[in-house]
This record gives sequence, C-alpha cells and structure tokens, in this order.
Amino acid sequence: MAVPRITIGSLRKLAATPGAAPFSSLTCYDATMARWLCRAGVQVLLVGDTAAEMVLGHQRTSDMPLDVLLALTAGVRRGITTATTATDAPPPDGTVAPLLMGDMPFLSYHLSEDEAVRNAGRFLTEGQADLVKLEVDTTFASRVERMNRAGIPVCAHIGSRPQRAAMTGGYSSAGRTKEEAAAILHDAKVMLDAGCPMLLIEAVPDELGQAVTALCTAAKVPLIGIGSGISCHGQVLVLTDLLGLTDKSPSFVKRTANLGSAVVDAARQWVDLVARREVGNSPYTSR
Ligand code: KIV
Repeated sequence: MAVPRITIGSLRKLAATPGAAPFSSLTCYDATMARWLCRAGVQVLLVGDTAAEMVLGHQRTSDMPLDVLLALTAGVRRGITTATTATDAPPPDGTVAPLLMGDMPFLSYHLSEDEAVRNAGRFLTEGQADLVKLEVDTTFASRVERMNRAGIPVCAHIGSRPQRAAMTGGYSSAGRTKEEAAAILHDAKVMLDAGCPMLLIEAVPDELGQAVTALCTAAKVPLIGIGSGISCHGQVLVLTDLLGLTDKSPSFVKRTANLGSAVVDAARQWVDLVARREVGNSPYTSR
C-alpha cells in the first residue's frame, strides 16, 4: 500500500473540516529520528533552529548557522525517503510521508528582502523542504509575500519569537496584555493576507490561541500551536522534550518517554560488557 503523503493541501482540508482531529508535529534534526517519526505517523516534521541547543549545544536558538540547518534539513528528507520507500520490507502500517518544514535561522531573512527570498529558496532546493518557517510580525509582510509569490510556501511563526530573546533577556510568553494580544492577532491577519498557507503560534494565552484559530479556520489555513492551548489545528513540540532527553523543559510539555534514562542504562551495560571483555567474539563480516 502506498504511504500517505501529507501536503499543505491535505492539512488545509483538515483545517477546514469542523471536528477534524488535530494533526501532530515534532521537531526532527536527523535522518534516523525522521525514519521512526514517519513510522509513528507524525504529520509535520520541523527542522527547527532549536537544533542550535539540542544538536550543537548552544544556549540560544540565535546561534544556529544557516548552512548547518540546511544540511540537517536535507538529512531529515533522506530519512523520510528511506522510511517511506519500500525496499526490502514494506513500511509498517501507519507510516506517513510527513510535510517537511525548514526553520530559517536568525539573520538569514533579516538583512534584505533579496537575501531573505534567496535563503528561503535554498531550503527547498538544498534542504528539499516543503516549506519554510520564519518568526515574523507585520514588518516582514512584504518579504513573506514575495516568498509565497515565488512559490516558497511560508509558515508564519507568531506570538513568542525565541530569536528575539536578547531583547527580553530570555525566552518568554507573549500576548499577555490586551495591546500585545491585539498586535499578535493583527500579525496573523497580515500573514494570511501575505498568502501564508500555514501559521504557527508560540506561548500565548488560550483565548488568543482560540481567536487566531478562528481567523485561520475562516481562511482554511492550518494553525500549529505550541503552548498556546488546545484549539489549534495542529500541535508541535521539541522532540527532545517529548522524549525526556532534556534536563529542563517548558511547563506545557507532556513527556511521553524517558529516553534519557534508557540511554544511560544501555550505555552503562556497554561499559560493563567492555570491562568484562564480553563484547562478542564473532568475526567481522561485511554485508
Ligand atoms: O525551532 C523550533 O524548534 C521551533 C518550535 C519550538 C516551534 O520553532
């Protein structure tokens, strides 16, 4: 059986269907995880700039180099292709070919419109992504419109914008005052007008999440939420938070595994096996 391919079109249909079950999204930074997340049926994989922290060990997402993020995106694409193309064994039931979203890092779309459009295009050509995500407010409208018009679909990331953390001294929620909430709702309207086929909203109060969901539903545009209530059409989390691989995670994270401890257990067993010279004695053969 062919593996269902998740497209912007299929998610738009879902956003326009009353009562449809929300879709799931996770960050993903490598081909191995991509294979397993496809088999789990995760509909959208985001190669987020959180790779700066989760992969490269930086303290801030703004330290993410563009070329590295492009290489990671291409790796995730290869993982999707491997998981969804029947070779020796057919993909297990429930496997999907997720939509692949590349996250434009800090300063890759801020300096000029031309450079922003060119860098966005690199995510489609070099990264083999299906769309790009940018942290925006209304001041980004014209460059976002140019990207969409050029055929580079943009997911507008509104609400809390981690790339601006230096302005506030750290990551924080957004839209808590009436004025801020109105500004974020306006950002959403402007991004819909700029032709964005998807929006993402981070760390805002439930009521604002609901207001933006209503706006997006009317426009048949899927809204992905993170820490923004349960009304959004889809929900995303940072994978390492979900899997219990981070030492500290935001309060809204629902951890579904404790892989950190599992890794420690497995590695300790290896340490013991090696110390006891019990590493196996079979001769090495190539496949
Ligand atoms: O970079 C990222 O991982 C993100 C998610 C937190 C939404 O933008």
